[in-house]
Amino acid sequence: MTRNLNLALLAACSAVFSPLALAQVSGPIVVQGAMPVEAERFAQRLDNPREEQIGGWRFWRGTVDGYPVVVSETLKGMSNAAAATAIAATQFHPVAIINQGTAGGHDPALKVYDIVLGKYSVSLGAFKTPKKAAGEGSDSRQWQPMDLLASKGSAGEDKNAHTIRQFPADAKLLAIAESVKGSYTQGKVVEGVIGSADVWNSELDRIGYFHENYHTSVEEMETASAAQIAASFNIPFVGIRVLSNNITNQGKYDPQTGLACQDYVYQVVKTYIAKNASR
Ligand code: 5AD
Repeated sequence: MTRNLNLALLAACSAVFSPLALAQVSGPIVVQGAMPVEAERFAQRLDNPREEQIGGWRFWRGTVDGYPVVVSETLKGMSNAAAATAIAATQFHPVAIINQGTAGGHDPALKVYDIVLGKYSVSLGAFKTPKKAAGEGSDSRQWQPMDLLASKGSAGEDKNAHTIRQFPADAKLLAIAESVKGSYTQGKVVEGVIGSADVWNSELDRIGYFHENYHTSVEEMETASAAQIAASFNIPFVGIRVLSNNITNQGKYDPQTGLACQDYVYQVVKTYIAKNASR
């Protein structure tokens, strides 16, 4: 009996402390991109890539400098980004998630090809409108932000839910993203705020309102959603976005910027691995 118990204990201990079990403790880095032009370049740079389809989403598992990296094509928009992040969290147990890709400028000082390292992101899709009678019209600049995470009660009625929720970057990931700035030659790299919603804003007054009130540098459709879900799983997160367009300064849309962003993030990943990862 005692001997059996000892054997069982030994088996349990070796399961916990075997090299395999230790390797599973340090999970991969997940790099997310919404569109093929925002993900495939990074996937092609993986060593020994294996493509895997989970539901509607493509993932490529491979390595960079011998460390596991998963590239995730999230598809476009907030729901797709949330779902792809939850799948990555439960399937791969990542040590870090980097959401990257293209964005539209809200800050006239930023040009197409400049890169924004998101010190935090906000949802530009969660608001409560004031009451207006039929015929009174609609003015989105009067809408109040609605923090859907403020409480379990009604966000619409909760007086404390009307400040915009900020999803902060992990400080270590942000510092690493900053540290490779010098390697980027196609534009400048700044820290800023990423605003996300399933909306492509082309009204300069609305863009100006977001920039002034919520300090958005750029807008796109995934980061705040991925950041929210990563936070629910306690996974360190950072959003890194290149401007592919900026109507505040006539910056014309250029999808090739998505390739430049992946090259930047490749440097971030290599630096993360060199500094932090145990292979
Ligand atoms: N507004 C919204 N989304 C944008 N994207 C690039 N520029 C913008 C913009 N100005 C990104 C989104 C989405 C796709 C439409 O391109 O993140 O994935």
